[in-house]
Amino acid sequence: MAGRLAVIGAGLMGSGIAQVAARAGWQVTMRDLDDAATRRGLDGIRTSLEKFAAKGTIGADDVEAALGRISVTTELEAAADADIVVEAVFERLDIKQDVFRALDKICKADAVLATNTSAIPVTQIATATQRPESVVGTHFFSPVPMMKLCELVRGYKTSDETLATARAFAEEIGKTCVVVNRDIAGFVTTRLIAALVVEAVKLVESGVVSPEDLDVACKLGFGHAMGPLATTDLTGVDVLLHATKNIYTDTADEKFFPPELLQRMVTAGDLGRKTGRGFYSY
Ligand SMILES: NC(=O)c1ccc[n+]([C@@H]2O[C@H](COP(=O)([O-])OP(=O)(O)OC[C@H]3O[C@@H](n4cnc5c(N)ncnc54)[C@H](O)[C@@H]3O)[C@@H](O)[C@H]2O)c1
Repeated sequence: MAGRLAVIGAGLMGSGIAQVAARAGWQVTMRDLDDAATRRGLDGIRTSLEKFAAKGTIGADDVEAALGRISVTTELEAAADADIVVEAVFERLDIKQDVFRALDKICKADAVLATNTSAIPVTQIATATQRPESVVGTHFFSPVPMMKLCELVRGYKTSDETLATARAFAEEIGKTCVVVNRDIAGFVTTRLIAALVVEAVKLVESGVVSPEDLDVACKLGFGHAMGPLATTDLTGVDVLLHATKNIYTDTADEKFFPPELLQRMVTAGDLGRKTGRGFYSY
């Protein structure tokens, strides 16, 4: 199937998606707003590929071959000949809609337009286009070269054909897909982690258990690779607060109401690894 992929956004996720697609034989065009951003994205890809080569997972030739299949640009028009476009820009509806509105004018009629949003309903993003049946969510996980999951998210008008093409693409680049049939807030994975984190924070804030012991309980009791609080520190306490607020707004379900501690941590700037302190110190 390997064809032409355009990735919009050369950040953490966009460059990861570009990397795995190029490894799988796709010709990739990666677009960001300026040369510094595309260069950062490309440098990140080289560093990641070289780590795999140093471990012997791939050969030195594979590094150059994959990099040879990636071109970078600041022009959105470069997406014109793409079979699939994956958008991975900032998590803001207005920005994503601007990108999709422009892609709608530029892309081939049969192109699949995918978004890597972690929580915004695909239906809302698709309204910026005249072809909502071609818009689908491909929610990859970070770091993309390591994480096998892709949550495929149907918007209200996503066609079966679009979903099937997105699935074939994700599987070809090494991912296992789960299908989210309705683009509810938080899809499936963020719903689950939000429910777990809210309960975990309540248990910690009421003094029932320490953060360390709570994470150990989840790791040894449930076989989780990481406890929910360590995961929150990695993802960003603010990101989790935002996600739980959105899900609560969407569902009015009390179990997603963000606990006070989560709110206070964000107000105080303890956002997790990125600020050096969250539930743990770094
Ligand atoms: N970071 C994660 O763990 C993670 C996991 C799953 C999904 N996501 C989702 O993936 C998307 C990207 O996240 P990220 O962590 O890579 O963000 P990031 O901030 O690392 O990268 C976003 C990139 O998009 C670029 N950009 C902004 N507007 C643009 C435009 N109009 N055209 C082209 N490029 C543009 C920015 O310059 C930046 O380089 C978001 O929707 C996010 O919610 C993130």
